[in-house]
Amino acid sequence: MYIGADYYPEHWPRRRWKTDARLMQQAGFNVVRLAEFAWIDLEPAEGQFDFAWLDEALGVLHDRGISAILCTPTAVTPAWLARKYPETQAMQKDGTRMVWGVRKDTCYSSGTLRLLSERITRAMGEHFADAPNVIGWQTDNEFGHPVCYCATCRSEFQDFLCRRHGTLEAFNAAMGNHFWGHKARTWEEIPIPANEDRHNPSLCLEWRRFYSFLNVRFQRDQVRILRQTCPKHFVTHNFMGQFDELNYYELAEDLDHVSWDNYPVWNRPEVHYKASAAADLMRGLKRRNFWIMEQTAGPPGGTYFYRNPRPGEIRKVSFQQLAHGCDGQVWFRWRTCTVGREQYWHGLLGHDGRPLRRYKEAAQVAGEYHKLAKRLTGTTVRSKVAIVWDYDSSWALKIQPCWYGNTYPKAVGRYYDALFRAGVNVDMVPPSADFSQYKAVIAPELYVMPDELAERLSEYVKGGGVLLTDTRSGAKDEHGRMHERTLPGLLSDALGITIEEYETMMGREASEGFGYAVVGRAAAVAGEFTAESYADWARATKADVLAGYTDWHMRKFAAATRNAFGKGCGYYVGAVVAEPEFYDAIIADVLKTARVWPVVRPPAGVEVSVRQGKGAKLLFLINHTEQPQEVQVPAGKKELLTGKKTGDSLKLDRFGVAVIDM
Ligand code: GLA
Ligand code: ZN
Repeated sequence: MYIGADYYPEHWPRRRWKTDARLMQQAGFNVVRLAEFAWIDLEPAEGQFDFAWLDEALGVLHDRGISAILCTPTAVTPAWLARKYPETQAMQKDGTRMVWGVRKDTCYSSGTLRLLSERITRAMGEHFADAPNVIGWQTDNEFGHPVCYCATCRSEFQDFLCRRHGTLEAFNAAMGNHFWGHKARTWEEIPIPANEDRHNPSLCLEWRRFYSFLNVRFQRDQVRILRQTCPKHFVTHNFMGQFDELNYYELAEDLDHVSWDNYPVWNRPEVHYKASAAADLMRGLKRRNFWIMEQTAGPPGGTYFYRNPRPGEIRKVSFQQLAHGCDGQVWFRWRTCTVGREQYWHGLLGHDGRPLRRYKEAAQVAGEYHKLAKRLTGTTVRSKVAIVWDYDSSWALKIQPCWYGNTYPKAVGRYYDALFRAGVNVDMVPPSADFSQYKAVIAPELYVMPDELAERLSEYVKGGGVLLTDTRSGAKDEHGRMHERTLPGLLSDALGITIEEYETMMGREASEGFGYAVVGRAAAVAGEFTAESYADWARATKADVLAGYTDWHMRKFAAATRNAFGKGCGYYVGAVVAEPEFYDAIIADVLKTARVWPVVRPPAGVEVSVRQGKGAKLLFLINHTEQPQEVQVPAGKKELLTGKKTGDSLKLDRFGVAVIDM
């Protein structure tokens, strides 16, 4: 089990390096990540490389038994590069280039940038291939910004469209370019659709796919070289959880495993559903365990900064990731920097470099991870429930959210959070996944639904699966055109409903919206709720109505339905409902129908997750609250952190964690 910190030896005098390495070793750390912003130090002038300082730093770490992940340092270009090759700086919408001096300011279509990126990658790969403590590579840093609007990007976009569509006729038809007379007669006429609220949504969707492709290609160039030069090393990248500007499935394809950067928002005293949802997605990208490459270590911030993690919180968020399939963890950062933009992004050590409370808590976690390592080997999360996570739908909803505040991660969160509260593990899967492996599949706002996908979902239900889908699902085809069939289109039989009309409940201003009262019509969804933002006028043709409306004109419509179809069951939720309890009720019914039960039922604020494999089944309990909690657990099992046998219940301290060997 690798555990350690993001380390920047180039930020500190050499005389400090040995102290850092000793303190890391004393904390039980055995890995650091190095050099993701150090291009200028590695190639101080074009074509002149200096690896001596990094060799020396690696040596100091090696003496303390610490391994290293090196980075291709392309997230910040050296000043000489921007000065000599201004075309490598990204162009903004207003036609001006970004001013060098921040970070992530490059154009990924620039041939110059790509060649220089390949050269530094090759030079580093060749130099460090046999360094005794280098174990792997991180490509760049947090791909995803900025979008470039330069002429090279425009012609690359046109080539991309030509490769995808083949002929202009096909392209014009797919985009619906007969609208507003937008038919292109040459590829060169196609613009960059820079304004998503004014350009053709179909072309905007293509532009988003193109931007993702540029990032994937830039990374692929580097990975190819690292595979050639460093066959012994793994290659990863630090993803950003639910960040959805790139197609993460594609970005992950070329890597050995996914890593991600976890910065839960400290200043809200809520359960961190999102950090678990993100972990499940990160595991889902390759259906493989992941690493945390940057784990939050202190108050985060820049111009302002947020609260300090309270005693136990650093440990709690670490165990939350471990519970969801984390196999290696690196804290961001080792020591808080005294200079630059991130003076207030706090590390384990403060500016003073002393090993105090946060360091000690990290050391405790490291000790515990090492203790668990053997039992964890070969284990992962195996879920019976999947949530479909689809970048096309997410992008199409960015282009046309349909109502204020509608985002895809939020739509997914309504169900994810309910599953979390129910104590059930979830896999996040692409729309191409084999659904038959799951007892239940939840597909919130699956806005872009090619016929092929609708048919597979329908087959899944027919064959015995339990499907839940909701608002705007299936409205669009793969080109972002509205389907012509009455909704829910090819899912009509599986869901047993028809949606002839629908509406949002927005006013002109966000504050002027209205709501509908929703009432349970089946015991499973008892109670009164409020539909807000959006409602389908959905009629049950065959389905049972679980919840309906009371407003006079809405009484014949259903807010939630359940339909037996073939050997399975199709659920539909036709409204965005304010109360989380509504989703708890729906999910409870879905789980019952799918015959999925949690290992233990957690009290509010306590998270449950199971890792299993190779004869091991480990139950993680995580108390997200600042009060002690009592959880009913199977008796007579060993709790691995304390070594004690369980009784019928187990007490968790505030922010406490437990790992029970089942
Ligand atoms: C990101 C980056 C880091 C650092 C942190 C904190 O996750 O990858 O380099 O900037 O944020 O700001
Ligand atoms: Zn560009």
